[in-house]
Amino acid sequence: MDLKALIREIPDFPRPGVSFKDITTLMKDRAALAYVVRSLADHFRGAGIQTVVGVESRGYVLGAPLAYELGTGFVLIRKPGKLPAATIRVEYDLEYGKDALEIHRDALQRGERVLLVDDLLATGGTMSAAARLVRELEAETVGFGFLIELTFLGGRERLKSMGFSDSQIVTLVRYDA
Ligand code: PRP
Ligand code: MG
Repeated sequence: MDLKALIREIPDFPRPGVSFKDITTLMKDRAALAYVVRSLADHFRGAGIQTVVGVESRGYVLGAPLAYELGTGFVLIRKPGKLPAATIRVEYDLEYGKDALEIHRDALQRGERVLLVDDLLATGGTMSAAARLVRELEAETVGFGFLIELTFLGGRERLKSMGFSDSQIVTLVRYDA
């Protein structure tokens, strides 16, 4: 299936020179949504995934149906101040300033086998922060699933610098510029 044809590109959004990858057009297409979820699930079936962990907010759109497809539960990593019970937090750098992500302290058990999911891998700042949260809870990130990879922004290298391998990082659509 030609997923790229269903991803709408918005030039100069959110700022000049950036071509925004709008996944809403793909998500609206029932065949494409089913294909994306099944494709990611097929990569990780048999990997002993116990829990899918999604990153707020667009990671939820893929993460929850993926958990359903794999027959696992789903855990939310959220932006600061949103989770009600005791949390741990990691900060990460943005182009301008800092942001942070949180997870409930009791969301994952030691050794729990986790699949981390987001819609898009760009610089990898978001996902490396998410992987640090999983690590801090002593759970095990078995792999990463993304719909889109912007290869020129180095996210894959960033995850590999944390000790993960190419085969653990699955992306369905790649843009090289
Ligand atoms: C976007 C995207 C990824 C992240 C990728 O999320 O959904 O989560 O950026 O960028 P990175 O690899 O450089 O960290 P955003 O923070 O815009 O929030 P949203 O998902 O809530 O829209
Ligand atoms: Mg996001």
